[in-house]
Amino acid sequence: MDNLVHIPVMLESCIEGLKLKDNGIYFDGTLGGGGHSYEILKRSSPNGKLVATDLDDYAIERATERLKEFNGRFTFVKDNFKNFSKIKEELNIEKFDGIILDLGVSSFQLDDRKRGFSYLDGNARLDMRMNKDAKLDAEKIVNEYSESELKKIFNEYGEERFSGIIARNIVNNRKINRITTVGQLNEIILKSIPKKFQHDGHPSKRTFQALRIEVNGELNGLYETVLDMGRSLNKGGRIVILTFHSLEDRIVKKAFKELETDCICDKSLPICVCGKKKEIEIITKHPIIASEEETAINSRSKSAKLRIAEKI
Ligand SMILES: C[S@@+](CC[C@H](N)C(=O)[O-])C[C@H]1O[C@@H](n2cnc3c(N)ncnc32)[C@H](O)[C@@H]1O
Repeated sequence: MDNLVHIPVMLESCIEGLKLKDNGIYFDGTLGGGGHSYEILKRSSPNGKLVATDLDDYAIERATERLKEFNGRFTFVKDNFKNFSKIKEELNIEKFDGIILDLGVSSFQLDDRKRGFSYLDGNARLDMRMNKDAKLDAEKIVNEYSESELKKIFNEYGEERFSGIIARNIVNNRKINRITTVGQLNEIILKSIPKKFQHDGHPSKRTFQALRIEVNGELNGLYETVLDMGRSLNKGGRIVILTFHSLEDRIVKKAFKELETDCICDKSLPICVCGKKKEIEIITKHPIIASEEETAINSRSKSAKLRIAEKI
């Protein structure tokens, strides 16, 4: 597994977006292979500091080894970045000069076939947990959620138009045998989607995305966390967020908009009574997308959208 690599997406744009200072303090919520963190530490030398989180022990272990040349300047915490407030408090940090989130899974999680993230390995167990200590996994969802719950997550998180029939077929199949492998689920999905609609990527793509989002609670609390992060920047500090599907991008866009919105009082009022103040300047009016060169060498970058904002 050690030869699995994660190529950081839009590395230059992210790092430029952070406007690093040599004595700044930064937060990377999604450490992964440590690609973005490495550049943050390198380009904020000699005194820049970094706090980073990941849910995955393997990510923390690997990045600790990879970034050891910067020992003393970073703190890695195995935690959910959504516990940002608590982590800040525990480390006695009030504000950061830059925050980065590179959402979703890393290539080494996807490519480690044993972890069940990919629909490409039929033998893998239906797992999909970023955090191996978590209780909920894809097998539990597929075998224990009701038909209507399954339909709802496939529909909402996978935007799968055949969510109803996939859910029904899962429920019918599991009455006979527990569904434990990627292959069993692929087979059910394949039988649920009419042939003529099987050409928009792999038929399992959307259902697997939905399951992964549900297993890891990827969208839960994201909006509130982005608001909190935006408010926890020093003046001039930047927040840089990479998303990989429209559901998370919409949440980030909405949170940035909320932070950017100034007083919402009726214009006829002589003074502001709402107290709402503009807190950030959105730097990317439209999200940045990867160049053709990058998408040619890193297919993960194809769906990436980068949004950047600055604390005012
Ligand atoms: C796309 S990768 C990040 C790659 C990293 N930027 C790099 O350059 O190597 C996403 C990582 O974030 C982690 N992750 C996803 N959601 C998380 C969350 N809510 N809290 C902490 N870590 C999370 C995943 O386990 C994965 O390792």
